[in-house]
Amino acid sequence: MAATVTIASDDFLEQPSIHSTEVTTIKSLSESGLTSIPPSFASKNLHYLPVLDSSQGLIPIIDFSLLASNNSKLRCKAIQDLGHACEEWGCFLLINHGIPESMMNSMMEGVQGFFDLSDEEKKEFQGKHIFDPMRYGSSFNTAVEKVYCWRDFLKVFVHPDFHFPHKPSGLSDTACEYFKRIREIIRELLKGVSESLGLEPNYINKAMNMESSFQVFIANLYPPCPEPELAVGIHPHSDHGLLTMLSENGINGLQTLHNGNWVKLNPLPNALMVNTADLLEIVTNGKYKSNVHRAVLYSNATRISIVTANGPSFDQLISPAPELVNESNPPAYKSLTYRQFYELHQSNSLDKKSALDRIRLLT
Ligand code: OGA
Ligand code: NI
Repeated sequence: MAATVTIASDDFLEQPSIHSTEVTTIKSLSESGLTSIPPSFASKNLHYLPVLDSSQGLIPIIDFSLLASNNSKLRCKAIQDLGHACEEWGCFLLINHGIPESMMNSMMEGVQGFFDLSDEEKKEFQGKHIFDPMRYGSSFNTAVEKVYCWRDFLKVFVHPDFHFPHKPSGLSDTACEYFKRIREIIRELLKGVSESLGLEPNYINKAMNMESSFQVFIANLYPPCPEPELAVGIHPHSDHGLLTMLSENGINGLQTLHNGNWVKLNPLPNALMVNTADLLEIVTNGKYKSNVHRAVLYSNATRISIVTANGPSFDQLISPAPELVNESNPPAYKSLTYRQFYELHQSNSLDKKSALDRIRLLT
């Protein structure tokens, strides 16, 4: 029998005790040897869309080194490809990004080490409030979810202030450097994204004041699931920031919604997976739509993903770029701060683009 612990209701603003749920962590649930999933994990509509394999070269590949190339022809082509990836797919594989393989591996090993700590040790990192800078928990938001995700997670605010668990030892230093590298890559990508929209390279970085950006780290653990065809690792959703960066432990499980199909992202070795997120959709007034994705499960493998959501500061006002709206293309989203949008996104259950849908203007 797995030890039963009270997990804090994830992603809940003020958490009255009535909303706490007695469930085990998914890791201990998985390790308890159960042969079927509890009914509260059974997802409906899991299989109503076809699933395609991206091994046929479907997912766009962007070569990061070409975005900063001195060869203007190569650079132009890379920017064009980036724009196409954002507009047609909302996701791409990023190669030659410059983060050493050894650093990516250390991150993954460290995160694995974190999840391998005992439930008792990890309890120290439980947060109760969506604005707590460090939160360890299960599913996504157990306070409001009808169907849980088969997922444990650690969510940490890592910029502008760097928070991080002190265990396992050594991870915090690697992580700090890794997140810095990711922020640098994000700023370069946003230059390319701006140019692909016909704007000057620093347009989005300036408009969003990206020198004071907010970055949140999410480590996801998807333990083996006895009925992977009935449960889901993370429900279909779009992310809240501008761009999300993701890597995984060699177990492929991310799927992206594209033209009514789920497409498996089968990453190339050492590549990063990038998703366009909701704030980018708002800023581009819907030209670059946020990507809807989900994570699937396995009965015999543990999947880990390392994610950073990258956006402007919480106080930044988000609205469609004036250069991208006109009479025939009026603003399609209400203006709000990132803090307000983050709250909207994190205090509900994950359901496709439900947060963004709440601020759409009827045009
Ligand atoms: C996320 C997410 C997918 C994955 O954390 O926002 O979409 O594959 N994760 O873990
Ligand atoms: Ni996501």
